[in-house]
Amino acid sequence: MSTFSFLLEGFRNLRTTGTFTRSSPALCRAAIDRIDFPAAKVIVELGAGDGVITKHILERLPADGKVIAFEVSPDLCDDMRALNDPRLIVAQDSAENIRHYLDQIGADKADHIVSAIPFAALPEDLGKSIVRAAKDTLRPGGCYNQVHYSLKTKSYYEDAFGEVETKRVWANLPPAWVLYCMR
Ligand SMILES: C[S@@+](CC[C@H](N)C(=O)[O-])C[C@H]1O[C@@H](n2cnc3c(N)ncnc32)[C@H](O)[C@@H]1O
Repeated sequence: MSTFSFLLEGFRNLRTTGTFTRSSPALCRAAIDRIDFPAAKVIVELGAGDGVITKHILERLPADGKVIAFEVSPDLCDDMRALNDPRLIVAQDSAENIRHYLDQIGADKADHIVSAIPFAALPEDLGKSIVRAAKDTLRPGGCYNQVHYSLKTKSYYEDAFGEVETKRVWANLPPAWVLYCMR
């Protein structure tokens, strides 16, 4: 999807997209920090958009690894399918259904979860149930990394995971945060 089309998608569905721009390379790198790639078998991505972070994950994922990428916009899912990578499973579905997609590939838990879902723009109940689903399906020792433009919903991750570390990423428009949680 071109930058212009992404901008249009943002205008049409701002309540679910939460932005007009995709993550910068610096933000994508920060979003996948702390992932133990050599050992990763299953990475789950929530709010994958057109796959900008997904591509960074795929670059470092072992050949036998899988990425399950959740996205609710059909157009953005088509962009991810066009990446044409056999390790990528596009879940055109809401992110609280992680369990169902793990079961489909015979995986008990996700090794790591990366999310860019704009929880501040979603109903609180939905946001909290997605974070709960993420915690329940993440293996002990795995990390949950959340990209945000504010710290408004930090308590969602503190309630689910306990301690939350934050990192400011200035090289993004607008400057962003990545919140790091450990299971
Ligand atoms: C801020 S954009 C991030 C896109 C891309 N990952 C990036 O970093 O540029 C958030 C994405 O979350 C998706 N989204 C919103 N609610 C969702 C939900 N309940 N389940 C899955 N994806 C959702 C939106 O459609 C949007 O593409």
